[in-house]
Amino acid sequence: MDFSLPECRSYFATIADSYDRLQPVLSPPYSRGLDMIVDLIPFAAADSFEFVELGCGTAEPTVRVLEHFRRATGTCIDSEPEMLALARRKLTSHLGRIEVREANINRCDIPQCDVVFSSKTIHHVPPAALPELFTRIVNALRPGGCFVLYDAMSVEPHWGASVRRQSSRFRQRHLQEAVAAGVATQQEIDARVEYKRAMKVAGQDVEYEHSAKNMIDAMIEAGFDEVAVVWRMFADAILLACIPAKVA
Ligand SMILES: C[S@@+](CC[C@H](N)C(=O)[O-])C[C@H]1O[C@@H](n2cnc3c(N)ncnc32)[C@H](O)[C@@H]1O
Repeated sequence: MDFSLPECRSYFATIADSYDRLQPVLSPPYSRGLDMIVDLIPFAAADSFEFVELGCGTAEPTVRVLEHFRRATGTCIDSEPEMLALARRKLTSHLGRIEVREANINRCDIPQCDVVFSSKTIHHVPPAALPELFTRIVNALRPGGCFVLYDAMSVEPHWGASVRRQSSRFRQRHLQEAVAAGVATQQEIDARVEYKRAMKVAGQDVEYEHSAKNMIDAMIEAGFDEVAVVWRMFADAILLACIPAKVA
């Protein structure tokens, strides 16, 4: 893989080909976070319902949802053509159940649905855009629907040095295990980390550090009636936000 800094390619366009292999290596909680999204969707495996994934990337979360909920249908949205090309390829066995849409989640229409989920994407959304995004999600959800938001975020109380040390030990052990298992080489891990750092310096991989509290406040303001941190693994957390069911 060419890790030289491309002038006009985004971070995700460049890393798309290795994303599925390296994301679970570089983000130790990732696979468990995706399992939790499936677990938190409030339907039985045989139920029919509609979902939307915001920032689907290569559609790894969407694939897990489609495979667990065999009668669910949905739309997955991302702005990056290279990631979507891989998503479309992966989703060919689910044709008829999923629409793959290229759009910017900061302004696109969100189809009416029962569940919206987003994994590892909201940290790319500027804080100022969150209230409007949450309002569009509330408006898209049917009564009783929910939004499952998985991403890195700060959750009070803040960490001190000991938890930070434990977090980095946990990550280090995870990386070493992946290298020992032949999933990735240390060189490509180092190269990816360095590439991400350089893209950030060049302003081509912009990330925001959201706090759970700010997002929960903005979600309540947008019209969700209950929001809670329901899962956490070091910096990765899941917020579950619910819409009131229709009163009979
Ligand atoms: C770290 S990847 C996560 C992909 C997938 N959800 C997963 O968990 O594997 C972040 C994705 O968000 C997408 N993204 C970032 N900002 C976006 C925006 N404003 N509109 C649509 N997609 C966006 C990127 O293109 C990328 O595919």
